[in-house]
Amino acid sequence: MTYTARDGASNTVLRGCDFDIAPGEFVSIVGQSGGGKTTLLKIISGLLENTEGEVLVRGRGVKEALRDIAMVFQSPTLLPWRNNLANVLLPMEFRRRSTAEARAHALELLELVGLGDKAKNYSYELSGGMQQRVSICRALVSHPEILLMDEPFGALDAMTRDQMNFELQRIWQETRRSVLFVTHSIPEAVWLADRVLVVGDRPGRIIADIAVDLPRPRSKDSRYADEFADLVARVEGLLGVEAGIS
Ligand SMILES: Nc1ncnc2c1ncn2[C@@H]1O[C@H](COP(=O)(O)OP(=O)(O)O)[C@@H](O)[C@H]1O
Ligand SMILES: [Mg+2]
Repeated sequence: MTYTARDGASNTVLRGCDFDIAPGEFVSIVGQSGGGKTTLLKIISGLLENTEGEVLVRGRGVKEALRDIAMVFQSPTLLPWRNNLANVLLPMEFRRRSTAEARAHALELLELVGLGDKAKNYSYELSGGMQQRVSICRALVSHPEILLMDEPFGALDAMTRDQMNFELQRIWQETRRSVLFVTHSIPEAVWLADRVLVVGDRPGRIIADIAVDLPRPRSKDSRYADEFADLVARVEGLLGVEAGIS
């Protein structure tokens, strides 16, 4: 991917991002800030057109697969004048498929994330973690095969973030989407994923693809396992992060 500025200056931010994701697989992406992770997700989501190479979803280009892909951003971006249920249903309204069935599914999703009793509430009545859960429901409501998440818990405090990691593991185990999860927290990346892709920068490229074979479902104690610490240390080493700081 090369960005070209108005004055004609070009900046290649991604080169050599060659990887596959299996159906139902959870893949984390970690890398330095400015390494091109958001750019990569935007390309896969169809928001941005890559200048070279191709992205295939079941053998089709992303433009034809748009309906199968949903994205969760760092900020929940809920519409303040709509209640939570109406926010979750928004993508279905865009598709003119806001049917009774879609509504029932939206309520089920809110139930799944522990917000079954908050369907008629508004976002200002929710905590940051709850708002982010609503935005995850909004991403899931259209039954996407692929869920792209760009530092979705980056704005949350550490305890809420831990809780969201558990929630996400549970949601993923129940819905089995392919997930591509960008984070700057290496422990979070390892704890959630089947595989961790490490992105080196300038230009961004995949420098390692690390399998995480820790048993599931993962618990709080999984974080104290030697295998977990070894994986975290390995990724830190690849990114040049000082041990103990992440
Ligand atoms: N729309 C854009 N136009 C030009 N350059 C951009 C644009 N978006 C991102 N970049 C540049 O691409 C590089 C990668 O950015 P980004 O994908 O946001 O990285 P990350 O998400 O890993 O922090 C950065 O150098 C950034 O300045
Ligand atoms: Mg980013």
